[in-house]
Amino acid sequence: MRNLFPTLGFLHGADYNPDQWLHQPGIIEQDIAMMKEARCNVMSVGIFSWSSLEPEEGHYQFGWLDNVLDKLYANGISVFLATPSGARPAWVSEKYPEVLRTNSDRTRNLHGERHNHCYSSPAYLRLTGKINAQLARRYANHPAVLAWHISNEYGGECHCEICQENFRGWLKEKYQSLENLNQRWWSTFWSHEYTSWSQIHSPGPLGEQSVHALNLDWRRFVTEQVALFCRHEIEAVKPFNPALPATTNFHGAFYDYDYWRLAQEIDFVSWDSYPEWHQTRDQQALASYTAFTFDLMRSLKPGLPFLLMESTPGTTNWQPISKLKKPGMHLLSALQAVAHGSGSVQYFQWRKSRGSSEKLHGAVVDHVGHLNTRVGQDVKQVGTALEKLADAAGSDYRAEVAIVYDWDNRWAVNDSAGPRNCGIKFEETVHKHYQALWQQNIQVDIVSQRVDISRYRVVVAPMLYMVNEAFADRVNQFVAAGGIFIATYWSGIVNEDDLCYTTGFPGPLRDVLGIWSEEIDSLYDGETNQIQMTAASWDKATRDYTCLELCDLIHTEGAEVLGVYQQDFYQGRPAVTRNRYGKGEAYYVAARTGSDFLTDFYQQIADRHGLSACTTLRLPSGMVATVREQDGKRYIFVQNFSDCAVTLDLTQEAGPLEALLNTGERQDQRYALPAFGVEVFLAE
Ligand code: GLA
Ligand code: ZN
Repeated sequence: MRNLFPTLGFLHGADYNPDQWLHQPGIIEQDIAMMKEARCNVMSVGIFSWSSLEPEEGHYQFGWLDNVLDKLYANGISVFLATPSGARPAWVSEKYPEVLRTNSDRTRNLHGERHNHCYSSPAYLRLTGKINAQLARRYANHPAVLAWHISNEYGGECHCEICQENFRGWLKEKYQSLENLNQRWWSTFWSHEYTSWSQIHSPGPLGEQSVHALNLDWRRFVTEQVALFCRHEIEAVKPFNPALPATTNFHGAFYDYDYWRLAQEIDFVSWDSYPEWHQTRDQQALASYTAFTFDLMRSLKPGLPFLLMESTPGTTNWQPISKLKKPGMHLLSALQAVAHGSGSVQYFQWRKSRGSSEKLHGAVVDHVGHLNTRVGQDVKQVGTALEKLADAAGSDYRAEVAIVYDWDNRWAVNDSAGPRNCGIKFEETVHKHYQALWQQNIQVDIVSQRVDISRYRVVVAPMLYMVNEAFADRVNQFVAAGGIFIATYWSGIVNEDDLCYTTGFPGPLRDVLGIWSEEIDSLYDGETNQIQMTAASWDKATRDYTCLELCDLIHTEGAEVLGVYQQDFYQGRPAVTRNRYGKGEAYYVAARTGSDFLTDFYQQIADRHGLSACTTLRLPSGMVATVREQDGKRYIFVQNFSDCAVTLDLTQEAGPLEALLNTGERQDQRYALPAFGVEVFLAE
């Protein structure tokens, strides 16, 4: 991967909000001394500083920011400079009430909070454009500034009249005529036909919610609107130094916006990760979910690292229980990001606020004002580790497997009425498939339906309810050319307009999978069926697996039956199939299963199709590895998410291994790692 900031190795830093402390002289000097002690080389500055920068419209005060940037630079600390649109000063709302967001129930917000603006408001566009340009004119060429941190965690949607008009304009461009829109929205249903564009309103609880294509188009429009707002912000700053890259901080698998689209507007991806560790003794579900989100963020811009823009050095304070990280967990969770391709470990925030709602949120510097705290020591340990790993900062993360995770499908499958309104569990299903690969140390990229899949060996598409026909074509070519495709129940039901396929499910995937899905049975909670694996090729001790919730009733059309249902009126009918298609094979898992099946299934897939784990070290349950590599060097990140100490046998890897961090104890070829330990081994 191209290192974004080659001279800096890995970045280590935090959101820094010195504007909260301007009345306390000397704080900046104390902070900088501690930043150096914690081996921090970057700070994100100005994220919520609008009222300190422009206390009245057109009256700017930059002196404090000049001072902060100059002092940081003089001490070798770089800056991600934020545009301040994440929260607006009260004068903006008072003077231009149109900036206040209208909710889906058509109530308009009062002033307050943050991340709640109207992205269509001409006043908001004008004001953000102006302050951004002022900042850029002054700082775009400041030597401390590494990149733009555009706004903060864009979120939500506005239903005001200006947004409605923009939505109608977007629809006109997409559909050209009302006739076309009516047809593709299937709006003769319940007499919902539109005879003028002005009759169309965004979906909401007091109005329309049953036209699925409208709901979906609204979400697509909202993504487009935010993407254009982000573009507007970037266009205001770029002319002053076109070489300065820009990012905006995402929040993982955020539901509201299609991040595949938003990622196109920025130069590199950054995001804020806040796993709630230690909720249960077994951390595997959370650790693998966090790994999945890291892989998603890396995959949004192939070939580039992502940045971990925020994480908490201690606890957060917005979850029901603020549990402390146990010893080791801070370094482990920080390096988990790096292990999956992050170029940084950054925190929210540097110094804990004295007042307001984040005064008890974890920060590097606690209210006591020094680093001689458990958290302070943890942060220093991460700083030291990142320095030792600096050579790995440009290393690649390679995957032969891709999992499809597509926002259109996600929105559509969750919106669909039936077959399981009490929880269709799309996200959970994707995660379960991911986890089965993660625990076998098989590296994975995430793709959308618009990404080229030809370079992968295996493509997994759990619950691909909405299938784009162009993607289906690419799947056919991929399998014909020797690729392995894995699909599940509840796939190929609708096209991109959310209209059901009328060629038999799974629609355009029917041929490649060699099956026809006639019906799907929904099971009540607690009800189960059994799958028996009947294929001689199923090389496992266990041949019986429980299935639950969704059971697809399929007919084979050329596919080989690997397993059958054992109960109910569909006893004996196929439940797992494999179809030869050209030089490749396509699998269909017809029912929702537990992780026991998925673990065995993906082991079979790996064995049969030559997928290898990233390391030959044998790691006990709860422990995983990922590898980053460059110029013949392999950096093996061994991560122990269990609360037990583990001793590794290093002879299981072919060549010599050098422990770069020395977090464990080495005795010859045995290496003892503590509970929640992490080590990076260099293999050359
Ligand atoms: C988000 C925001 C930060 C802060 C943290 C707290 O990630 O971007 O400003 O509020 O949450 O966890
Ligand atoms: Zn609006």
